[in-house]
Amino acid sequence: MTTEALTEKQRILVVDDNIANVELLEAYLSAAQYDVVKAFDGQEGLDKVHETMPDLILLDIMMPKLDGYEVCKQIKEDERTRFIPVVMITALTELEAKIKGLDVGADDFLSKPFNRLELMARVRSLLRIKSLHDDLDSSEDIIFTLALALEAKDTYTAGHSERVAGLARELAEEIGLSEEIRGRIHKAGILHDIGKIGVREAILNKEGRLDEEEYNEVTSHPSVGANICEPLKSLSDIIPMIKHHHERYDGTGHPDGLAGEDIPLGARIISIADTFDAMTSARPYRAAMDADVALKIMESELPEGQWDEKLLKSFISIKRNNAT
Ligand SMILES: [Fe+2]
Ligand SMILES: [Fe+2]
Repeated sequence: MTTEALTEKQRILVVDDNIANVELLEAYLSAAQYDVVKAFDGQEGLDKVHETMPDLILLDIMMPKLDGYEVCKQIKEDERTRFIPVVMITALTELEAKIKGLDVGADDFLSKPFNRLELMARVRSLLRIKSLHDDLDSSEDIIFTLALALEAKDTYTAGHSERVAGLARELAEEIGLSEEIRGRIHKAGILHDIGKIGVREAILNKEGRLDEEEYNEVTSHPSVGANICEPLKSLSDIIPMIKHHHERYDGTGHPDGLAGEDIPLGARIISIADTFDAMTSARPYRAAMDADVALKIMESELPEGQWDEKLLKSFISIKRNNAT
């Protein structure tokens, strides 16, 4: 996306049912070398957002079909479009309109009649923020690609991270976590084993017992993974879930021996999904286990205190209900 931004014009979507306004904005923006996309009502605006993925949206409020608030709300609720800055166009004195606009996630306001200099300054500043987000996005993409590439070279673990992410998300939904948190847990699921990039393949695939040095190398992967993701601010919420996915509820896990609710909830969820997926997938040293059998074993381990009991019970009930 970043390279695209350097070589292509930045795209601005103007949504207003007042044709004269649209033409005026188009004239200003085209003169400054932006690529302008136009829409004349809220629904058309929303369609064009998805079709053209603009870098910035200038959005009128009072429009037929969908009004500007509703359009803004939908843009900000959608993962794919929420980082596109939205400027709402209001009349000069409408304080109430601004408050409502802030509530639906508007990034800025512009008053009619437009002051050209002010308009262009706002547009430039919001586009700068948008390209920062795009840069961040691409750094995130690199790490996710790396995580999936890491697995692809090993037939035994292929698909493990995505399955863990899917299972963890299901469990998060079952216990009523918000979509936003479910999304974070899903990301952490994809990345949980990324630290294995630092573990020798011969050790990962070894059939017999590991010696102490090998064991230490394997058990370093959650901390290594956390270090890999550390430079990315956008991943800061999920790093603790990566770092602690091998803690045990009774405090006997690693790397920090955290116990109970000191272990981040996302990490507790991922560790259940992770163990279930590991048991039900084939490994170099054993065949895949039936889901039923795996659930029974995990359930039988409850008295030992390794698991967060409530979470494990919810997980078992999802899996058993899915099976029937
Ligand atoms: Fe792991
Ligand atoms: Fe894992």
